Amino acid sequence: MISYTRLFASVCALASTAAALNPIEVSGKDFVDSKTKDRFQIIGVDYQPGGSSGFTTKLDPLSDADVCLRDAALMQRLGINTIRVYNLEPSLNHDECASIFNAAGIYMILDVSNPLAGGYLDRSAPWTTYSAIYYKQVFGVIEGFKNYDNLLGFFAGNEVINEDATYMAPRYMRAVVRDMKDYIAKNSKRAIPVGYSAADIRDILMDTVHYFECDLKNSTSSRADFFGLNSYSWCGDASYKSSGFNVLTEDFANATIPVFFSEYGCNDVKPRIFTEVQAIYGEEMTQAFSGGLVYEWTQEDNEYGLVKVNNSNTVTTLIDYENFQKQLSKLDIDRIMSSNASQTNVEAEECSVSRITHKSFYNAWDLPEVPSKVSDYIKNGLPDAPSGKLVSVSATTIPQKVYDSTGKEITGIKLEVKSGANTPSSSGSSTSGSSSGSSSGSSSSSGTSTPTNAASLNGAPSLALGGAGGFFMLLASLL
Ligand SMILES: *[C@@H]1O[C@H](CO)[C@@H](O)[C@H](O)[C@H]1NC(C)=O
Ligand SMILES: *[C@@H]1O[C@H](CO)[C@@H](O)[C@H](O)[C@H]1NC(C)=O
Ligand SMILES: *[C@@H]1O[C@H](CO)[C@@H](O)[C@H](O)[C@H]1NC(C)=O
Ligand SMILES: *[C@@H]1O[C@H](CO)[C@@H](O)[C@H](O)[C@H]1NC(C)=O
Repeated sequence: MISYTRLFASVCALASTAAALNPIEVSGKDFVDSKTKDRFQIIGVDYQPGGSSGFTTKLDPLSDADVCLRDAALMQRLGINTIRVYNLEPSLNHDECASIFNAAGIYMILDVSNPLAGGYLDRSAPWTTYSAIYYKQVFGVIEGFKNYDNLLGFFAGNEVINEDATYMAPRYMRAVVRDMKDYIAKNSKRAIPVGYSAADIRDILMDTVHYFECDLKNSTSSRADFFGLNSYSWCGDASYKSSGFNVLTEDFANATIPVFFSEYGCNDVKPRIFTEVQAIYGEEMTQAFSGGLVYEWTQEDNEYGLVKVNNSNTVTTLIDYENFQKQLSKLDIDRIMSSNASQTNVEAEECSVSRITHKSFYNAWDLPEVPSKVSDYIKNGLPDAPSGKLVSVSATTIPQKVYDSTGKEITGIKLEVKSGANTPSSSGSSTSGSSSGSSSGSSSSSGTSTPTNAASLNGAPSLALGGAGGFFMLLASLL
């Protein structure tokens, strides 16, 4: 059992404190780094250890620092820069986990709902749950996470609009986007992007993106900032055409907001070889898509995992982890992250009935009025809601034992403190069984906490890069 005290107490260990990541903002149809203005594409994984049923009000995926440190270090080694977390409990403390992922160069996209009573919008009768009770959850998550600079954005809903949804669902979903953005504008120091995550229902997919991305003159805040697509149409060694990814690219080429795969990674063919990675980040698709998140980090009953958590002390990287890592190591990160004015200058189109083609899809933008208590929350902030802040991260060595898919122990895995987004290692990093800690391109096998990224050791960049958040974090780490 590792104590949090040991992990986080070292108040004077400024050397191992990471600068906060630069917040990401939306510019036209791209995500960009708010400071450097470089394009940001999501290289991500969906993170729900324990599966959706593993969530309780006592424990969510960002409340156990030992688990976060283990997973952040393994994700960093894999080459990930973003996680998506589905179910969160606003009353829990997330400072340590958020700070660990920040130090690892990993951003977070968070769903604001949870599956418990009052925690979600009922797709079959949204008017029954569009209420102050639901908004305690939604605004509670915003309050809890708004101060973390590595918070990329929020999903206002996940697959709410599907075959089981009522005709009215889009109308309520767009109202939730509006209310969240109004809340953020009033109660957060920065504009945090808010989007929607859609099921891949091809009949209504374009209607769905058009419904959310269009500009509504009398409610500009109801426009979504980004669009996630959960798509599993590339299975095994498919091709750009056979998977239908070419159609998706054409479909989304004219989108006016960033679009990305909020879930991908079909497992009909096992093990997964992730050849779609080269397509998603290839030259054709990156005009339409800003990357994606593989479903999912841990192995659960549905067998989509990249790692298997055997018990609290051991974890195994599965063959899928190694295959995904190999694909990521081939990416041309400089090209993927380079800014492009024709992408960032894209402007919204106005909402109009003609943009909705399917007769079963709701085609008006007469959004429901905000319930009066919810309106009070927006104006004055949600009462008694805890807000997090980044704290210093001192422990970088993970206490758990890690094995590769052949059963060989992998040693020397540790968190490397970064000052920028994590990137895949292009050296075709060793994927298995390194018996000495120094074999990955990342040096430092000694017990010291020297990050290989020297910039993060330097006080100047942490102040310069971190902005207000970095400053507060630095303060917190000094106090
Ligand atoms: C995208 O926009 C171009 C130029 O306006 C148009 O020719 C094309 O048909 C559009 N594509 C789709 C799929 O709507
Ligand atoms: C952990 O689980 C994996 C996958 O089920 C298995 O192959 C491996 O032997 C287990 N490792 C340990 C140390 O129990
Ligand atoms: C920039 O984006 C435009 C349209 O989105 C695309 O046609 C063009 O190839 C891109 N340029 C580069 C250098 O990628
Ligand atoms: C805002 O504009 C939409 C689309 O024109 C319309 O349907 C809706 O009734 C308007 N809402 C208000 C409050 O005026």
